[in-house]
This record gives sequence, structure tokens and C-alpha cells, in this order.
Amino acid sequence: MTITTQEKQSLIVFANEARRRAYAPYSNYPVGAALRTKSGRIYTGVNIENASYPQTMCAERVAIFKAVSEGETEFEVIAVVTNNGGSPCGGCRQVMAEFGLDTLVLLGNGNGELTRETTVQDLLPEAFTSKHLITE
Ligand code: THU
Repeated sequence: MTITTQEKQSLIVFANEARRRAYAPYSNYPVGAALRTKSGRIYTGVNIENASYPQTMCAERVAIFKAVSEGETEFEVIAVVTNNGGSPCGGCRQVMAEFGLDTLVLLGNGNGELTRETTVQDLLPEAFTSKHLITE
């Protein structure tokens, strides 16, 4: 995988722009995500809250589910932007892990700055994956 510094920055911008469309009237914590697939397409996502709080969906999962529902399951990098550079929740880490531990994860803040660069592997060590379901 090759991703330039400029491309990383541009994914943060995509995620931050998407963040404006977050539906977060309860937490007032808008989150935006931009997922780049190996085919080069970019899928964005935002958090979508609900008056029945547990029905809320995180931005990362919206982006991933949009991609998968379009037939894309091979990801290169996901950028996630919050006001304060917050890190993906455990549920989103698990969903990211399903599609590859090598996926690069970029975190950014509300000023559109890239604040941290990591991988799914680092965010979710000892992940439970499909290989654990193979029994002999
Ligand atoms: N949220 C995300 O969208 N992604 C995360 O990884 C962490 C949390 C959202 C869910 C909720 O709408 C708001 O942030 C506060 O928890």
C-alpha cells in the first residue's frame, strides 16, 4: 500500500467535511469518517444518533457498511475526525478487524489536523477474527 502524506491529509479533510452531516443532536459530538478501499474509492460516514440512544450508529461503521454494501471489502485506510481527535470505539475496532488488521487508521481533529496514525492491529490486539471459528 502506498499512501502519500498529501493523500492522508486529503482523507482527513474528507472525513472532516462529512462530519458536518453528522446527526448528533444528543451528544453534540459529531464524528466523520472517510474510508479508502484498495480499488481507490472513498466512502464517507457520519454518526447517526437516535432518540432511543442505543440505536445510534458510529461514523466508522456507516462508512464500512456503505462500502461493503457496494461490494467492497478490501480496505486500505480509514480516517476518523472528531472535535478532539478521539479514538474509535471498541465496536468499530471489531468491525474494522473483520476486514483486515493491516488497515491504516488516521485520526484527526476539528481543525482538520492529522493527530495520530495507527493500524487496526495496534488498536485491537489479539482480535477475535474468522480464524477462531475454524475448529478441527
Ligand atoms: N461515535 C462514533 O461515531 N465513533 C466512535 O468511534 C466513537 C463514538 C459517536 C457515537 C455517538 O453518536 C457519539 O460519537 C458519542 O458517543
